[in-house]
Amino acid sequence: MTKMNNIPDWEEKYRDEEAETMPWYYPDLDPDFKEALDRLEMISGDALDIGTGPGTQAIELAKRGFKVTGTDISFAAIEKAKDITINSDLNLSFMQDDILDSRLDRQFDIALDRGCSHVFPPEKIPNYVSALNGLIKPGGYLLLKCYSHLESEIIGPYCYRPEDIEYCYSSVFTVLSIKDTIYYGPLEHKPKALISVLKKRNET
Ligand SMILES: C[S@@+](CC[C@H](N)C(=O)[O-])C[C@H]1O[C@@H](n2cnc3c(N)ncnc32)[C@H](O)[C@@H]1O
Repeated sequence: MTKMNNIPDWEEKYRDEEAETMPWYYPDLDPDFKEALDRLEMISGDALDIGTGPGTQAIELAKRGFKVTGTDISFAAIEKAKDITINSDLNLSFMQDDILDSRLDRQFDIALDRGCSHVFPPEKIPNYVSALNGLIKPGGYLLLKCYSHLESEIIGPYCYRPEDIEYCYSSVFTVLSIKDTIYYGPLEHKPKALISVLKKRNET
């Protein structure tokens, strides 16, 4: 994993900036998530969007028929996401929560991580995997999108190789697929990314 060296202050960022200007902002369902859901033939279920930020992925998932909980460490992000969905009739809720010290007390059929855990220092990943073990039902899925080791232009998140994903997650998950992709968003240079589809083992 390559080192990250500029983690934003999330609260300050969401308080002071418009979500639409952020490099990860993508108003539609990320095509990699769409493809993964189609391949898994999943059209409904209880879903958790971890580090939901502007909430776009949570909203799009709810529009597809999922019951969605979006969580983020930033209170400001959660307030803004709540504001834009306040009058919707989607099966969707937002909650401030630190996934590394989560207050969530139930399990989900599927969790999405679009660029959340790739900001965690490597020593925190075992805590993250342990949190996921508690939050995802046996046989449930994790869709994980992170920066790839092939990305060399943007200094930011930790960059993963496929073998890093195997190493970090295989104690709890079976790795169904890991593919090269890009990080869709407003940046002209689309960062190189990995999309991983993981299935929680029944016996963990
Ligand atoms: C790169 S942004 C991605 C946002 C969103 N997933 C998207 O794709 O638009 C990473 C997000 O992770 C959130 N985050 C960082 N650390 C977190 C933590 N410990 N628990 C929950 N969310 C966290 C940040 O506030 C930020 O919104």
